[in-house]
Amino acid sequence: MITWRDTYNVGVRQIDDQHQELVHRLNDFMEACTNQKGKEKIQETLEFLKAYTVEHFRDEEKLMQSVQYPELAVHKKEHDEFVHVIDELLQQVNSQGTSILTTIKLNRTLVDWLINHIQKNDGKVGEYIKQHP
Ligand SMILES: [Fe+2]
Repeated sequence: MITWRDTYNVGVRQIDDQHQELVHRLNDFMEACTNQKGKEKIQETLEFLKAYTVEHFRDEEKLMQSVQYPELAVHKKEHDEFVHVIDELLQQVNSQGTSILTTIKLNRTLVDWLINHIQKNDGKVGEYIKQHP
């Protein structure tokens, strides 16, 4: 379970709300894994993430653009890579079905990536906005 911490907040309401929704969905998925329901939940989680992160990343990138954030390109690249990982996992699940391995991989990849990204990269955007109001 991921517990939302105040330090995860970027300070922009829309983005923080979207991040919390992502964390909420990942928690749901992790709970399903704990209850041996991960396999059933994996496709749904991936489909959700595919649609939701595209929208969320677009909003974040718009925000960065609007404040002329200097590291937008690097940040966007991380987003694109994540979308690619989700795509690959989804394709794998659709063609080969789910396995414990895919489930674990999803779990680790997503949780690690997301929390790391929110704290480091999105946090930097938040800092920048505070300094350049
Ligand atoms: Fe981001």
